[in-house]
Amino acid sequence: MFKILLTLTTLIGFLISASSHTCKACHPTIYKEYRSSIHANSSIYNDKIFNAVWSKHPLKKEGKFKCAKCHTPNDKALIAGKSKLQPNNIQKSEPISCQNCHQIKDIHKGKFTNENIYLKKDKYFYSANPDKKGQKVVFKKTSSLFGLLESTTGSPYHDIDYSNENYYNGNSCLGCHSHKKIKNGFEVCSLEVKKSKHSKKTCTTCHMPKTLGSFVNLKNSKTHSNHAITLRGDAYKELAKYIDLNISKNNNNNSAIITVKNQANHALFVHPLRLGQLRISINGKVVKTINFHRVIGKDGKPSMPWLANSVLKDTTIKAFERKTFKIALKQGEKVDVTLGYYLVNPKAAKKLGIKDKTLREFRVLKSIEE
Ligand code: HEC
Ligand code: HEC
Ligand code: HEC
Ligand code: HEC
Ligand code: HEC
Repeated sequence: MFKILLTLTTLIGFLISASSHTCKACHPTIYKEYRSSIHANSSIYNDKIFNAVWSKHPLKKEGKFKCAKCHTPNDKALIAGKSKLQPNNIQKSEPISCQNCHQIKDIHKGKFTNENIYLKKDKYFYSANPDKKGQKVVFKKTSSLFGLLESTTGSPYHDIDYSNENYYNGNSCLGCHSHKKIKNGFEVCSLEVKKSKHSKKTCTTCHMPKTLGSFVNLKNSKTHSNHAITLRGDAYKELAKYIDLNISKNNNNNSAIITVKNQANHALFVHPLRLGQLRISINGKVVKTINFHRVIGKDGKPSMPWLANSVLKDTTIKAFERKTFKIALKQGEKVDVTLGYYLVNPKAAKKLGIKDKTLREFRVLKSIEE
């Protein structure tokens, strides 16, 4: 059985090399999560927001798609400028493949963006496993009891390298997720990642939490690292536990302090399209809305990112930051607060002609009552 599986998967691997489909045979749970993630849907064909922005982008008219190295790195020909935007299998169904994330040898810091330095070796993947840290595992079969019992270590399809530090400290995410500057040198986007002595949590702790289900079907591990890593669907709600929200009333009950504390090592709601909001209600009626966003523009007016040259306003919640807000109260009034965000600021959604309701709704991260 094992031999058949092995031949079959090697054959599939041969037919469609460098495809995430190859991994599906042995890593079905992770494959399924990956399929639902934004990383498997980051091309203009599946991401309506990205598509809407691209259709207004001046580079579109020039026919120069310069977004591929992060949004469609799996299409090598597209990156090399040798092929076009087209709904082929790669761009449609695996713009960022398993290999794109598991073969990042190093990350070079760059002025405009960082660069992923990819390993040029087939079937050799980096991974993180604290118990095996430092090891390089090649497939081995060992028999005991005169060949009656056979056991295997490693993967029959690929080598595994547990020694790449970038997979332990979250840096493997930062070739694409760190920052982006445009031609005039203006930084349109930055996650503003910070180090802290007090938090050991890295990107994977929060965005790839251990979830029930084996990571490979040839072994029976209890859990695997979740690959849904997405803020689409309902998965984003899982992240709310990393934002503390609190209401405390003063002794006279004539005011309340609302506290928002970001536990993440990066700023929240940083993408220029996002709009975070804290809605404060008294007796069930919203009395105050606080916006968290980074407004960029030109000559003092908000503009599309490719025209921007300055930050007009920055009220994003920085890494580990605690923000407090005071509200006056009358005797007997009750306070409740809701923290959430729009993927696309409603004003921008209108300009971009984004009609899809699920992309326009206010997404609640957390709601609390006093
Ligand atoms: C090869 C580039 C690349 C790598 C490596 C990468 N990402 Fe992404 N990621 C993207 C792109 C591009 C998007 C946006 C896709 C879109 O919206 O169309 C994205 C989206 C996301 C989102 C959703 C953001 C949102 O606002 O919807 C999260 C969360 C995320 N990535 C986390 C991670 C984590 C954690 C890692 C490391 C384990 C990682 N990414 C590695 C390119 C990458
Ligand atoms: C250096 C890597 C990189 C490059 C190059 C890049 N992007 Fe992105 N882009 C990202 C990442 C990472 C995200 C997710 C960011 C987040 O949510 O904070 C993203 C998100 C987006 C989003 C929001 C998508 C959504 O669904 O919310 C749009 C729109 C977008 N990018 C447009 C572009 C365009 C247009 C280009 C090319 C002109 C481009 N990007 C080039 C990394 C990149
Ligand atoms: C023929 C089955 C098979 C195929 C196909 C396969 N793998 Fe694996 N993979 C395994 C096995 C078995 C292990 C566990 C090895 C061990 O624990 O010693 C593994 C382990 C891994 C690990 C490391 C897990 C850890 O312990 O941290 C990564 C990463 C990985 N595979 C990625 C991939 C990717 C990406 C693909 C597709 C290109 C793929 N695999 C295709 C069988 C397979
Ligand atoms: C302590 C937990 C935690 C850690 C560590 C963490 N994140 Fe996040 N991340 C969050 C929370 C909470 C959000 C907000 C959820 C939302 O927007 O739905 C978020 C949002 C994001 C977004 C969307 C940003 C946007 O524009 O709205 C991206 C992209 C992202 N994280 C990537 C990363 C990367 C890359 C790392 C590692 C450098 C990382 N995260 C580390 C908790 C964490
Ligand atoms: C956005 C980047 C990204 C993509 C895409 C991605 N992985 Fe991973 N994967 C990682 C990182 C980072 C880790 C280490 C996670 C950790 O430290 O918990 C990991 C861990 C794993 C592991 C070990 C799991 C465990 O439970 O320890 C396997 C196996 C794996 N990935 C297979 C795959 C396969 C198969 C695909 C495609 C279907 C894939 N990965 C796509 C970044 C990615």
